[in-house]
Amino acid sequence: MHWYILGAGAIGCLCAELLHNSGAEVTFVLRNQTQLDSFNQAGRQVRFHDADTSSSINVDASLPGDHATINHLLVTTKAYDTLPALSSIQHRLAPDAQIVLLQNGCGQQQEVTRLYFSLQVWAGITTHGAWRDAPFSIIRAGKGHISIGPMGKPQPALPNGWDMLTPPVIAEPNIENALWRKLAINCAINPLTALHGCRNGELLTDPKLTEQMLSICEEIEQIAHARGHKLFASSLFHAVSEIAQLTGDNFSSMLQDLRQGRQTEIEQITGFLCREASTLGMQVPHNQRLLDQIRTLQSRHDIKGEGCE
Ligand SMILES: NC(=O)c1ccc[n+]([C@@H]2O[C@H](COP(=O)([O-])OP(=O)(O)OC[C@H]3O[C@@H](n4cnc5c(N)ncnc54)[C@H](OP(=O)(O)O)[C@@H]3O)[C@@H](O)[C@H]2O)c1
Repeated sequence: MHWYILGAGAIGCLCAELLHNSGAEVTFVLRNQTQLDSFNQAGRQVRFHDADTSSSINVDASLPGDHATINHLLVTTKAYDTLPALSSIQHRLAPDAQIVLLQNGCGQQQEVTRLYFSLQVWAGITTHGAWRDAPFSIIRAGKGHISIGPMGKPQPALPNGWDMLTPPVIAEPNIENALWRKLAINCAINPLTALHGCRNGELLTDPKLTEQMLSICEEIEQIAHARGHKLFASSLFHAVSEIAQLTGDNFSSMLQDLRQGRQTEIEQITGFLCREASTLGMQVPHNQRLLDQIRTLQSRHDIKGEGCE
């Protein structure tokens, strides 16, 4: 089995290791010659570090303009890069290629399924934590799991070879619901912590933030229900509070992106929710305000990002 990986960042490299260790051939599709040069300088290796151990794997790399046909593709770019990245390799995709989208946010999965209707598309979510300290050098920040499920037309529970991976990938038959659950949590925690520059735990210790989080959660739940998604056994507010408690010392990825002047995934998180509300003719004023505020912060820092309404 030969898997190409588009998006050789933290999650792409973790998945390269997973696939490589299962015996699959792995090839990164890098953005350009500069990235390929940097990969060659790194010895065509990906290195992994945690508190106690270091390891490395050797993988291959190609450029979008190459001609080898791609039958199996994993996309691990940031959500906002999905469509441009895919379009750069469109000419290489086999008509019935298998494609897995493993990213936060919503909207891009449905867009890919609609635009690339002949492909077999799976979407996934992951609770792994990792970041890059240098190109192709990954710090493991927390062990989690990966859940994958088919989008759109009926197809196998997992793509070719993904039932053989160790640790196992969870086959999620209702991936749209799982994507909504992850979206709901990200909508409730990320923009609020990014805006207030606080750790996740402060959402529970500052009564004003807790009240705001409650209003945000109630709006999200209304939109999810209108779309036919029951999110959690308890209320979303209860579920989010548990997560904020468990991850109390963490800074959300959106806050870290803002602090480092990187584009955030706000348009695929709260932006998606607001677009869904607008389509349904419903109001989500608390979420809309957060979206506007993060957009303003991004534009003040001159961070690239698309308005989408
Ligand atoms: N990291 C985590 O702990 C974590 C946990 C859960 C979920 N996620 C989600 O997983 C997704 C990936 O996150 P990440 O942390 O792995 O991001 P990342 O480290 O920034 O990696 C994204 C990679 O995609 C590459 N890329 C973007 N456009 C491309 C193109 N046109 N062609 C080729 N490569 C392209 C980027 O290259 P450049 O470096 O050149 O931009 C980068 O290497 C996100 O949706 C994130 O929210 C991440």
